[in-house]
Formats: sequence, C-alpha cells, structure tokens
Amino acid sequence: MIPAEAVPSPNIWRHPDVYELENLAVDPDGVIEAAMERIRPMAGARVLDIGCGTGFHLPRFARSAARVTGVEPHPALAARARKRVAGLDGVEVLNGVAQRLPVPDSVVEVAHARWAYFFGPGCEPGLAELDRVMRRGGVAFVIDNDATRSTFGRWVRRSLPAYDPAAVERFWTRRGFAREPLTIRWLFDDRRDLEAVVRIEFPPELAEMNSPAMFAVIWAVALLLLWYAWTMRKRGVLR
Ligand SMILES: C[S@@+](CC[C@H](N)C(=O)[O-])C[C@H]1O[C@@H](n2cnc3c(N)ncnc32)[C@H](O)[C@@H]1O
Repeated sequence: MIPAEAVPSPNIWRHPDVYELENLAVDPDGVIEAAMERIRPMAGARVLDIGCGTGFHLPRFARSAARVTGVEPHPALAARARKRVAGLDGVEVLNGVAQRLPVPDSVVEVAHARWAYFFGPGCEPGLAELDRVMRRGGVAFVIDNDATRSTFGRWVRRSLPAYDPAAVERFWTRRGFAREPLTIRWLFDDRRDLEAVVRIEFPPELAEMNSPAMFAVIWAVALLLLWYAWTMRKRGVLR
C-alpha cells in the first residue's frame, strides 16, 4: 500500500522505465553533483536520499559515502531500488515518507531530495523530520525545477498555472535555505526517448514537441539547488 502522505508522482509511479531514461539523460556533465560536492562532500558521510524512487542515485552516492539510505513510499519502486543496490555494501532502501523518516535522530550528514516531496509550502512536516535526523555539520539538499527560466521552466509554468515560483522562493528563504540556480542539459541518444520522457512530464499540448526550439530544452533545464547546513545549533533552527 502506498501511504496516504505520499505525494502522487505519476511520472515514475506509472512509467518507471521511461523515468529511468530521464534519469540517464539528466545532467550528463554532473553539474548537480559537482555543486553538492562543493558545498558538502559525500566522502565518508552518512547519506539519506528521501523519495529515492527506483534508487537511481544510490549507487553513485555509495561510491564515496560511508553509508547510504534510500527512503521511498511506493512499495514497487522501493523494491526496484533494493534490487538495484543488491550487493552494494553499506546501502539500504527503507519504505517510508519524508514526514516520518525511518531513521534515528541526529545521524544524517548529507540528505538529498530530488524532485521529491520538498516542493515548498506544505513540506513543513518533512522539514521538521530533517531537523530531527540531521547531525551537526550536516547539509540537506533539495533539487527542484526553476520555473522562472528556460524552455523547461516555461513548460512547468504552463502545466501548473497556479504555481507561484516567487512564493516558493520566499518559503525556502524564510527557512534559511541557500539557493543556487543551476543550468543542466538533458542528453538523449535517441530523439524518441526524449519524446517519451517529455510525454510523462507534460501534457502534449503544452510542450512544443514539433518545434525546432524543442532541441533547446536539451541544453537548458533550469534547476534550483536548495541547501541548508546544520551548524552550531542543532534543534529549532527550521521554523
Ligand atoms: C519524481 S520522483 C523522483 C525520484 C528520485 N528522487 C529520482 O530522482 O530518481 C518522486 C519520488 O518521491 C516519492 N515521494 C512521494 N511522496 C513522498 C513523501 N511524502 N516522502 C518521500 N518520498 C515521496 C515518490 O514516490 C517518487 O518516487
């Protein structure tokens, strides 16, 4: 059973194989990982991936981290993630949600949530849980689309007309998160894969699949890297 607190994610819930193509195509230059490493290296760290889906990022994190825990509410996706990391030392996948993390207090040194649950207003219960599980000196990263720019951002705005990027930005700023805009590429071997991925993300009438400008999206996907460092004080910092 999928817990009621899960945020429906039709892209990966309904199309995990196409979502895998998307993950394979996202950020071939490693812009996101380089930015995270600059802020808080993963070497030797205890890492938590919240909303890990099929666990795409877990083996990458496990290359340098001491221990990696993926948390995922969708049982079938959690099972796929477990299969992916079978045989990797120090990697586990737990069924759970951001609002009730199956992790003890003050143990996590790097938390990562990529397009998962932490979408701005409404994610306060997950932030309270982060405050509980993070260690001093730990850093939590939230990776989300930047709807204010790029072709991709325009499609996001069209498909979610009520979405207010300024309100979301205020939400994170008020909670002390730093914000780093990143621009990444999508790189597909096959245009049909790109089309399949766009179809699981956007209604067909909103994404200009036939326009020559379509190719621009491959080169400009705007992202926000939001991060928060647990420094001197441990508790009560996230309000
Ligand atoms: C768009 S997918 C991204 C998956 C993964 N982070 C990746 O980049 O491959 C969003 C994921 O968040 C999960 N999710 C939904 N609600 C959640 C919650 N309340 N707590 C944690 N994860 C959640 C979904 O089941 C889904 O696997």
